[in-house]
Amino acid sequence: MNYRHIYHAGNFADVFKHIVLVMVLDHLRQKDKPFFVLDTHAGIGLYDLESEEAQKTGEAQAGIGMVYERTDAPPEAKQYVDIVRHANGKGRKAPRFYPGSPAIVKSMLRRNDRFTAGELHPDDFKTLKKSLGADMRIRIEKTDGYGLLKSQLPPPERRGLVLVDPPFEATDEFDRMLKGLREAYKRWPTGIYILWYPVKDTAPVADFHRVLSGEGIPKIIAAEFSLSPQGFTEKLNGCGMIIVNPPWMLREHLEAIGPWLAGAISESARCTIKEIAGEL
Ligand SMILES: C[S@@+](CC[C@H](N)C(=O)[O-])C[C@H]1O[C@@H](n2cnc3c(N)ncnc32)[C@H](O)[C@@H]1O
Repeated sequence: MNYRHIYHAGNFADVFKHIVLVMVLDHLRQKDKPFFVLDTHAGIGLYDLESEEAQKTGEAQAGIGMVYERTDAPPEAKQYVDIVRHANGKGRKAPRFYPGSPAIVKSMLRRNDRFTAGELHPDDFKTLKKSLGADMRIRIEKTDGYGLLKSQLPPPERRGLVLVDPPFEATDEFDRMLKGLREAYKRWPTGIYILWYPVKDTAPVADFHRVLSGEGIPKIIAAEFSLSPQGFTEKLNGCGMIIVNPPWMLREHLEAIGPWLAGAISESARCTIKEIAGEL
């Protein structure tokens, strides 16, 4: 386990992923009935962008740094930017702290909602525990995130979200995700699932989409963001998310923020939404 998210926190991929995360959580908050969130690969929760590790790559400046001070964000993205601003307090021109997925989820939980986060790295697990603090609504497990798809699903609330955001160190991560989704979906077919993946080479992504489209899962979209229209790249040039059971209007909301976000990040960036299965 060499991957440490501190080197990448707040990069364009985090911005895109967390905008979608906030949109889905916002959708879940629209009904009073409590919801459940499972974050299988949670990271440490709050990242110091002035740390040596974050400064070494400078990825956050090219990500959250490009949207933090924008005053023209569409409402669907503004809510996310406001969460990052809140984590930094008033008066900062550039963000010092970046809230990861567990911190974002925590900020959007209501009194009776529940949240389980998994983090396998022993140091990151400890840091995550500290950063989320004692909270009756939150459970943090030092375990393999894919195992949580079995032990935590279906949740008694019967409504909610599962985020699967592995580091993609393993060469068979797409297969692991597919296997995990199959098992989880069997247990809980009405849950919303977000599966994050990197786009470096387009062939494995096309295979992943092809297999997913034949799984018999009726509603799947893929939202992708690319920095430039290239083929294979060593560095991360793009990323995507498979969204199973996307909430009503999510696709439209994504289409509304796509051009704004792409324009804010880079002239050559593009955001695309594809239908993988179903009539949406
Ligand atoms: C991409 S980062 C997560 C970022 C986080 N979801 C966010 O959006 O802020 C992936 C995390 O998964 C952890 N990890 C690696 N293998 C794992 C496993 N099998 N189960 C759970 N966590 C794992 C890594 O230590 C790392 O912190």
